[in-house]
Amino acid sequence: MTLTQRLVLYGTCAVALMNSVGLLVLLVQQNQQQGRLERTEARLTEVEQSSVVEFIQEVPRGAAGLRASAGGEQPQYQYQYSRNKRSEEMEKELKQEMQEIHLEEGKEFSEQEVSQEVGEETEKKMKHKHRHSQRYHKTQVQDDMMMMMTYSMVPLPGADGMPGQNGTDGIPGVNGTPGADGKRGKRPPGEKGEPGEKGARGEPGPPGETSQPSNDVIIECLIKSLINPRNVTKMESTFGTWMKDTAQLNDERIWVAEHFSRVVKEYQSIASFQSNTSDVVDVRKFYQGCGHTVHNGSLYYHIAGTSSIAFHFHTKSLRTLSIDHALHHNLAYLLHNSKTYFKLAADENGLWLIFASSMDESIMVAQLDQKTFSVTSYINTTYPRTKAGNAFIACGVLYVTDTKDSRVTFAFDLLKGKPVNMTFDLRSPGGVLAMLSYSPKDRHLYVWDQGYVRLYVVHF
Ligand SMILES: *[C@@H]1O[C@H](CO)[C@@H](O)[C@H](O)[C@H]1NC(C)=O
Ligand SMILES: *[C@@H]1O[C@H](CO)[C@@H](O)[C@H](O)[C@H]1NC(C)=O
Ligand SMILES: *[C@@H]1O[C@H](CO)[C@@H](O)[C@H](O)[C@H]1NC(C)=O
Ligand SMILES: *[C@@H]1O[C@H](CO)[C@@H](O)[C@H](O)[C@H]1NC(C)=O
Ligand SMILES: *[C@@H]1O[C@H](CO)[C@@H](O)[C@H](O)[C@H]1NC(C)=O
Ligand SMILES: *[C@@H]1O[C@H](CO)[C@@H](O)[C@H](O)[C@H]1NC(C)=O
Repeated sequence: MTLTQRLVLYGTCAVALMNSVGLLVLLVQQNQQQGRLERTEARLTEVEQSSVVEFIQEVPRGAAGLRASAGGEQPQYQYQYSRNKRSEEMEKELKQEMQEIHLEEGKEFSEQEVSQEVGEETEKKMKHKHRHSQRYHKTQVQDDMMMMMTYSMVPLPGADGMPGQNGTDGIPGVNGTPGADGKRGKRPPGEKGEPGEKGARGEPGPPGETSQPSNDVIIECLIKSLINPRNVTKMESTFGTWMKDTAQLNDERIWVAEHFSRVVKEYQSIASFQSNTSDVVDVRKFYQGCGHTVHNGSLYYHIAGTSSIAFHFHTKSLRTLSIDHALHHNLAYLLHNSKTYFKLAADENGLWLIFASSMDESIMVAQLDQKTFSVTSYINTTYPRTKAGNAFIACGVLYVTDTKDSRVTFAFDLLKGKPVNMTFDLRSPGGVLAMLSYSPKDRHLYVWDQGYVRLYVVHF
């Protein structure tokens, strides 16, 4: 679509809004460039919906790109809406966001790809084991040999003579070689001395330091390194989330949620993801940001413009949970780089929700109960959202990156409720890191980095 066409469309929509009553019917033709138009429509529709008040009818006709729930019909939605102050604010925000997105996308094409350096620890194997081979020296002791020379007289036949005299002593033999060294003699122990006098009491030491982050978390649960980076595919959008179910073992499907929409794409496998063959699932509410997760058959997402998260999927039912005192609009993001207010995370302990407190803007984590879809506990990390680029949770530990998303600069043990002394490199700075999520199912880190969808193996 050309810029002019787009402007015309925006204009039309604006006029419709200004009139502030009546039905807005957007007929959208199915063609290759439909996606962008849909998103525009989606945003505007959400503006209307947020102020709505009533949702009167759902007329199935035409193509809105939404998969009908059962019979293959494609519904198009007609809304009756009323305009109020809130919708104006939200519209403003959306327009700003859209401008930002267009800007980013323009940049994206002109930008050279930044080659990625992986925060992979080079494992230095320092296995220089010195073996001390012990040699036993055998000393050969030479036996001394003495030779005695004796003279004797041969007797003549006849009477026995007198016994001869003893011969003279022979010459002494040569000296033998010296024997081996003997064992060291033992000195007998001396007597025990008297105890010394008691020393004087020392000066009092300086006051101890206040408690510091420690690493006494279960060591196997701290990330040692991120290894084996693998590019899965390249996406067209800068902002998005890609997910596999983090609990169901044999579910190989992949879902993609691009920032601000009410549909997610469903791919049957990595192969169909790579060949771009997807179905579309309508999740019934507009979502925002890149903080969603698929866990045990449900998609958990932030309902745009609200302080609520919802889940939805195979049951097709929608349940919502409202979080008090959470920043959720006016561009006061939890994770500014990815336009995310709420970040959901699943790990070995279940489901978590990361958000920023509207009281003091510190990063809070709520542990969620899946069965009742309620908050079990809140954890205050006291870390300011303004220092955070992105965040993920693995094995009970929250990891937060710096604002350039190049290093993990803060870690917090959620089970013990205290910070962990740990930092590590992640990627070279530059470009938009939209998403960083851990999956306990395969122990992989799922990444959406400058449109590249990537996997790392998390090595604990
Ligand atoms: C992934 O893609 C990026 C961007 O093209 C490239 O720099 C990087 O080398 C690739 N990584 C792998 C492991 O192929
Ligand atoms: C000669 O040698 C024998 C044996 O050693 C000794 O008993 C004897 O007294 C010796 N005789 C003389 C005369 O030295
Ligand atoms: C954190 O760890 C680093 C290196 O492991 C160490 O140099 C530093 O002193 C530690 N800081 C605290 C507060 O324990
Ligand atoms: C994937 O397919 C959609 C239409 O189904 C198309 O709009 C989009 O450009 C394709 N993406 C890529 C990366 O080819
Ligand atoms: C997934 O949901 C089923 C019920 O739908 C439940 O029995 C199971 O424990 C859940 N699994 C996890 C990992 O939460
Ligand atoms: C988090 O903890 C800090 C420090 O104790 C406190 O000042 C702040 O009010 C707490 N924030 C919330 C939202 O509980």
